[in-house]
Amino acid sequence: MNKLKLLLLGFLLFAETSFANFPPDEGMWLPSLIGKNYQQMKKQGFKLTAKDIYDINNASLKDAIVWFGGFCTGEIVSSQGMVFTNHHCGYDAIAGKSTPEDNILDNGFWAKTNADEKPIEGLWVQILVRMEDVSDQILPQLAGLSEKDRAAKVNQLGQEISKKATEGTAYTARVSEFAKGNAYYLYVFEKFDDIRLVGTPPQSIGKYGGDTDNWEWPRHTGDFSVFRIYASKENKAAKYSAENVPYKPKKHLPVSLKGIKPGDFSMVFGFPGRTNRFENSMGVKLAVEKTNMAIVKNRDIRLKAWKEEMDKDVAVKLKLASEYASIANYWKYFIGQTEQLKKLNVYDQKLKLEAGFKEWAKGKPEYEHIFDEWAKAYEAYTPIATHNPYLSQGIMGTSLAANVLGFRSLEAQMKGEITAETKAKIKETAMANMTEYLNSVNVPSDKKIFAQTLQVFYEDIAKDQHPEIISEILATAGSNTPAAAFAKYADMVYANSIFNSKEKMEKFLENPTVEALNADPAYKYYMGFLKNYQTKYGKQVAEFQETDKRLARTYIKGMTEYNPSAVAYYDANSTIRITYGNVQDYSPKDGVKYSYRTTGEGVMEKYKPGDYEFDLPQKFIELYNARDFGRYADKDGELPVGFITNNDITGGNSGSPVLNAKGELIGLAFDGNWEAMSGDIIFDKKYKRCINVDIRYVLWTIEKLGGSSLVNELTIK
Ligand code: ARG
Repeated sequence: MNKLKLLLLGFLLFAETSFANFPPDEGMWLPSLIGKNYQQMKKQGFKLTAKDIYDINNASLKDAIVWFGGFCTGEIVSSQGMVFTNHHCGYDAIAGKSTPEDNILDNGFWAKTNADEKPIEGLWVQILVRMEDVSDQILPQLAGLSEKDRAAKVNQLGQEISKKATEGTAYTARVSEFAKGNAYYLYVFEKFDDIRLVGTPPQSIGKYGGDTDNWEWPRHTGDFSVFRIYASKENKAAKYSAENVPYKPKKHLPVSLKGIKPGDFSMVFGFPGRTNRFENSMGVKLAVEKTNMAIVKNRDIRLKAWKEEMDKDVAVKLKLASEYASIANYWKYFIGQTEQLKKLNVYDQKLKLEAGFKEWAKGKPEYEHIFDEWAKAYEAYTPIATHNPYLSQGIMGTSLAANVLGFRSLEAQMKGEITAETKAKIKETAMANMTEYLNSVNVPSDKKIFAQTLQVFYEDIAKDQHPEIISEILATAGSNTPAAAFAKYADMVYANSIFNSKEKMEKFLENPTVEALNADPAYKYYMGFLKNYQTKYGKQVAEFQETDKRLARTYIKGMTEYNPSAVAYYDANSTIRITYGNVQDYSPKDGVKYSYRTTGEGVMEKYKPGDYEFDLPQKFIELYNARDFGRYADKDGELPVGFITNNDITGGNSGSPVLNAKGELIGLAFDGNWEAMSGDIIFDKKYKRCINVDIRYVLWTIEKLGGSSLVNELTIK
């Protein structure tokens, strides 16, 4: 055999084994192409057909999966349009419907009749009608375009394709980009705008363990809430109306109470938001060394300032609860991601992968210079890389900043002669923003955040990057320390700005001039930071982002030739995906083994009376002590609470159904585990687990703890 043949054989063997060894647990697969995975799924225990998952002519599982508000997933579980999702997905709606007098966040809520259900303004769900690869309609038209023109062209073509796809229908559509622009898919949806809250456990169940347990296993959270989709009398998607009726879905998920054991097939169907599995070594290094902890440090300021005020007053607690939860969630995420990127040596893993790629790319003009160009781009960008998180997560993290930024677009309208009509329009927008501001702000904490984020910016960001406003503030500070000067300045801003006072804003709007606006201390402050960043670095940052995206796209394309098995599935991009695997325990470290499930016993073990994260409703304790678990008890008589699988999920999957081999609901996915917090960048087979609430705990909580008959609506197997 000659050398070439030997080489070729080696390559083929390699290609074959690498495909066969492709871990079945890793991968977020497109439902329309799931046929490709079918043999492997069957081998793992799956009992249905590919058409049972996705079919455009007959009802299939996809008809029971909803994209929940654009940030989560839900599933239809009854013929009356009842939807299950996570408690943390319903959190904003639940907190928004809570008052100190009727505090459903703390006490829970179960609608007794349809009339009791609470319409949630602005909340929508979308159900996938169909999806289609439209790469051929887009890619050929992008050749030779600059990144900027390319983005504009993709946008324009996407709109045209969507429009054509929905003509004469009531559907909505969008075209999504895959693999940094290597592929495009069209998604046609039915969008429902009348969504009502049906039930929620008290947060002592739905958020049990709080931030202490968040992103960690073993877990004991009953992370679910219940909604209902309403439609017109003709069963069509419709805006909210008292006349609307519960939606009759094409398909709803049956529920299995049979229980689970390690090795059982499990499948998660939902809308994962974003992964970045092709992130390069330089991106990992930058995140670990600089940007992640910049985000954490600035979010920490907000969390501490809010918490102090929330602990003083229930009304403040309810006002800030949802924002607090969402900032805290990704505050801890970035701490965990940093820790695991280091621990799992992800930087070195990436370097190794890239070394192989570079070797392969030698002599291939399209690919051989990617990493040289990338390294140069990162080198130029690194000195300014923390500026952005200090702005977006710090300086701009106040409610006041949001109100000011909302006014930015009005400044242009105020130039020159202002007609009565323009004036009325400006007033309408400004007052709507003002109402929103007043509904969300807590001034004492906002002021603290203002001063403290300024302080850390001042200390941590290189002086030549500072906006002039900082030296102006310090120049008037007298003998004060910078910290004292910043606190004093914050007091002055909140006392005088039109953006912190309805009356002052109204007065300003009687005669809104650019001069008066620019003299406003809050406007001057925030615009000072924004303009400084844009004039000094705007062009450079845009260039970096364009180069980074172009090279990432080329890199992924090269990888499809170099190592096809590494590109078997696309990164998450808020489109609907399937991941399949098994119920599986794990060992977090040498000598320690975590069970695949948790039970009521663990809930009781963690119980701390009066604690804000580990308190329990009295009724839970009574039911537990009476071992009143009804038909929801596990085989050994315990109350099942949580379980883990090796499914590949990320944020956005929250609320997704976990299905057994027959497509029956066995749980709701709600989190990932600490040891695999680097999972959005690299899938670690040994550690990565998906944390789920057992459906039996969900139903027990509704029926026994909540005393609700909603369970009767379900199809129980
Ligand atoms: N970490 C979960 C996720 O992003 C959210 C968990 C919500 N619970 C909490 N205690 N914040 O999917």
